[in-house]
Parts: sequence; structure tokens; C-alpha cells
Amino acid sequence: MTKRQFDVVVIGGGPGGYVAAIRAAQLGFATACIEMESYADPKGEVRLGGTCLNVGCIPSKALLRSSELFDEAKHAFVMHGIKMNDLAIDVGVMMRRKDNIVTQLTQGIRGLFKKNKVTLLAGRGSFAGREDELWQIAVTAQDGTTEIVAATHVIVATGSSPRQLEGIPVDNVTICDNVGALSFTEVPKRLGVIGAGVIGLELGSVWKRLGSEVTILEAMPDFLAAADPAVAKEAWKIFTSKQALKIHLGVKIGEVKQGAKGIAIEYENGEGAQRLECDKLIVSVGRVPNTAGLGCETVGLELDAQGRIAVDHQCRTNLENVWAVGDVVRGPMLAHKGMEEGVMVAECIAGQAGHVNYEAIPWVIYTHPEIAWVGKTETQLKNEGVEYRVGQIPFLANGRALGQGDTAGFVKMLACAKTDRILGVHVIGSNASELISEAVVAMEFGAVAEDIARICHAHPTLSEVMHEAALAVDKRALHF
Ligand code: FAD
Ligand code: NAI
Repeated sequence: MTKRQFDVVVIGGGPGGYVAAIRAAQLGFATACIEMESYADPKGEVRLGGTCLNVGCIPSKALLRSSELFDEAKHAFVMHGIKMNDLAIDVGVMMRRKDNIVTQLTQGIRGLFKKNKVTLLAGRGSFAGREDELWQIAVTAQDGTTEIVAATHVIVATGSSPRQLEGIPVDNVTICDNVGALSFTEVPKRLGVIGAGVIGLELGSVWKRLGSEVTILEAMPDFLAAADPAVAKEAWKIFTSKQALKIHLGVKIGEVKQGAKGIAIEYENGEGAQRLECDKLIVSVGRVPNTAGLGCETVGLELDAQGRIAVDHQCRTNLENVWAVGDVVRGPMLAHKGMEEGVMVAECIAGQAGHVNYEAIPWVIYTHPEIAWVGKTETQLKNEGVEYRVGQIPFLANGRALGQGDTAGFVKMLACAKTDRILGVHVIGSNASELISEAVVAMEFGAVAEDIARICHAHPTLSEVMHEAALAVDKRALHF
């Protein structure tokens, strides 16, 4: 059989990879995308969408919604005069809904590949060498057969996997990473979580809302250290007091034992030796880049000190025509960051001016209330010696938030004291994930706080709080 040859071969079909493949095909390149995982596909077929669609962003947000509705029915309906008897959750139905959403989306990407004429190659991709200025990529199928394809350009988008802790073996039944934690068959009575990061908080709150007693053990002494300090403080108050999530900071995990009665975790904190017993344990202590088995050493593909593929600002590696995007390279491990890099690389390959503005990548934590930000935190500005002004407005003063019965949190805008340019926007509150887009657009356009202050915002909407925060930068808020 003659060797198949492509202009662009993408290794990995997650958000970074599949978007790079679609954009490359749109630009007229003969493109293939290699994916090896079938995740939980009932037919055992390879599934596109990577961590995000299969075991990350999408299933977690589906469960968040179910748990929020349950929580509202339990606690919020009553203030609207809606009475409920015999409220119960059927975890099986909730999981099937989540699985159906995942299936719909992963099949959707297969459809997009067909539409854009991207060839899907099922198997594990690895570098096999270089011949006649073409990269030789081995695609090893599940049955062990290998096909070598040739490529002018290679985009590595192999993503990341959960970091493991020594002595805490994940079986995804009792001790779980994100995969098992998204597929519990019943609500655990006592749920332990190691790591109060994004996954710990999002999934911890899902199961808390559904009735678990949740305890989160976090190594760092500070809570949500990456967020703006005012947001972290507000989130701590809401999660630990109002929502009764137990979060212990500054812990050192010791021995973890599994027995007939569950899991026992020995740990130390400022108050000495402690013990937590639980029925399920989620380990969410960060993720590591997937570079093993890629054949990096075969071709001399350089890694950085953290084991990620080393790239420049346009995702070029040290090898000619080899690029890398998404979780496997530096920068935040976020789906939208990977997708933007995928587009940038395809456009650079086409000789266009591909570009990602790393200063304007939004962060969202899908707890309730949601937390979202873009740009610098107050801590960063202080450390950098930048003079700034602050406008901070609570949702409590907003008519729509009151109508919705959801007044927690605030919008905080940070602007340069000299130029008024927006340097950072931080939101904790209902719909923060949607509200932050206005701030991202503003920052991308180099807006000043006065620009937002002069824009007409629809009434009554939550976005009026963004407007008021911009006015508050100049100490002229109208409704607070
Ligand atoms: P991945 O999505 O990891 O995809 C890489 C793909 O490459 C995988 O399918 C893998 O099987 C495949 N692969 C690896 N090696 C090979 C090989 N050698 N050959 C062939 N295929 C290979 N981000 C957000 O922005 N918003 C969220 O709300 C969010 N929620 C999350 C919730 C959870 C529980 C988790 C775990 C993550 C979440 N993330 C979220 C992060 C997001 O999922 C990742 O940033 C994103 O999936 C990274 O995309 P990627 O394409 O770089 O890698
Ligand atoms: P994370 O980096 O957000 O949080 C890990 C937490 O575990 C940190 O607070 C860390 O201090 C703590 N930790 C590390 N070692 C520990 C130990 N030995 N004992 C106790 N605590 C320890 O990582 P997480 O939550 O695993 O998520 C991985 C990545 O997935 C995130 O960084 C994010 O990029 C992405 N993600 C994004 C989401 C979103 O955008 N909404 C949602 C979920 C995940």
C-alpha cells in the first residue's frame, strides 16, 4: 500500500487538536487528525473532543446544572411560593442525560470532520522519523497494527492527564480522578477531595448539593491563590459558611488506607495529626502534559523544565514544521486557550499572522456563584508596582439579581490610575461566565473604564453591575 501523505497531521483530537484540524482544512490543507481514545463509547469507537468533551468541561457542566436545579428545588423554590413534596434525585437518569450530551457533541465533531474533509486516523500517533523533508508519523491501532503516514506539518495536541499522588492509587471506583468522579452511580454519603483547585471545587459542590458531606483537603495555606484576593475571600465565605463545604488548608497528606468501611486519610495541618474517613475520594491535584510514547526522543523534540513541549509565542517547537498546542504546552490548561492556539497555528502554517493574546484569556470556575476573571489581579498589580484605581459593585444593588433571588458576589474592575485602561476584571456571582465576555472584548480592544461607563447596558440585567463597576472606577456609580 502506498504511504498516505498529508499537508498537516494533528496528533490528538481534543479542543486544541480538532480545532487546529478543522481550521487547517478550511485553509485548503490536506489534513488528518489522529486520536486514540474511545473513552466510554459503547461501540468502542474512537471519540473526538478529548478531555473537554468526554471527561472534563462538558460532562462536569451537565452535572453542575442538574445539581443546581436539585438545590434550587430544595432551598429556593419555597421563596417563590412553589411547594415541593418528596424531592429525590435519580443519579442514573442524571448520568444518562450527561452521557447523551457528551455523545451528541463528540458525534458533532465527527460530522464537522466530514464536512471539512479532515481524515480521522484511529490509533496512537508517534514520531517515527523524517524522510525527504516529511515527518513520518506512526499510527498504531488498538489491534497493534501500525500505519506510517507522511506529513509536511505536525501539530502535537496530546493534552494532559490527572497528576497522581504516590500511595493513592486511583481505581476510578472508590478513589477517583475526574473520570470516575463524573460517573458516580449514587450520591456518596461522605466524599473526600484532595485539592481545592478548579476540579475539587466544581465537583465537590456538585456532590455537596446532591447531599454528600464533602471535605476538601488543600496543601496550600491560601484559598484560590490565583484569583483576586477579594474574590477568593468572598468565595471562601460563601462556600464554607453558606454552603457548608468543609475546606481544610495547609494540609500534608499522609497514609491513605482503603477498608471495608471506606477510605481513611491521615493528614497533618496546623493543629497536628488528623484523620478523614470517607466513602469516595476524588484526587484533583493538577494535570500533567501527555508526552510519553510520542517519540519526542526519536526526533529530538524539546521539552521544557515542567515536561511540557517547549514552544514560542506562536506554538512553534524546536523542530521545523512541528507545532504544539493546548494542555501539552505552557499557559493555562483551558479548552478555549487550546482552541485559539489551534487556529493560530493553522493560520501560521498558511502564512497568515496567527495570534493569541495571552493577556486576555478568561478564567471561569463554575461553582455557585460562578467566579470569572480576565487580566491582572490586585495582587499582581501591587507586585508589579502599577498604580491602579478600583471600582467594585455588589450584585445586591441590582434589580435583576434581586428578581432572580441570587444576589451573592460583585464585579470588581481594575484600571490604570494614569491612563484609565482596564487592567483586570473580576466577577463572583451568578452568570459570571457570561458577564466576563464584555470585559474580554473591552480588554482586546484596549478599552478604558470610561468606555464601559459610557456604553448603554440593557435594564434590568446583571450586566448593569459591570457598567456600575466601570463608573465606580471614577467614583461616580449611580446606583450604589
Ligand atoms: P485534551 O482535551 O486532553 O485532548 C488530547 C487528546 O489527545 C485526548 O483525546 C487524547 O486521547 C489524545 N492523545 C493523547 N496522546 C495521543 C497520541 N499519542 N496519539 C493519539 N491521540 C493522543 N477547561 C475549560 O476551559 N473550561 C472548563 O470548564 C473545563 N472544565 C474541566 C473539567 C474537568 C473535570 C477537567 C479534567 C478539565 C476541564 N477543563 C476545562 C480543561 C480542558 O478539558 C482542557 O484544557 C482541554 O481539554 C485541553 O485540550 P487539549 O486539546 O490540549 O487536550
Ligand atoms: P488545579 O491546579 O486547579 O488545583 C489543584 C489543587 O490541588 C491546587 O490547589 C493545589 O495546591 C492542590 N494540591 C496539589 N498537590 C496537593 C497535595 N499533595 N495535597 C493537597 N492538595 C494538593 O488542578 P485541578 O483542579 O486538578 O484541575 C486541573 C486543571 O484542569 C486546572 O488547572 C484547569 O486548568 C483545568 N480545569 C478547568 C476548569 C475550568 O476552566 N472551569 C474546570 C476544571 C479543570
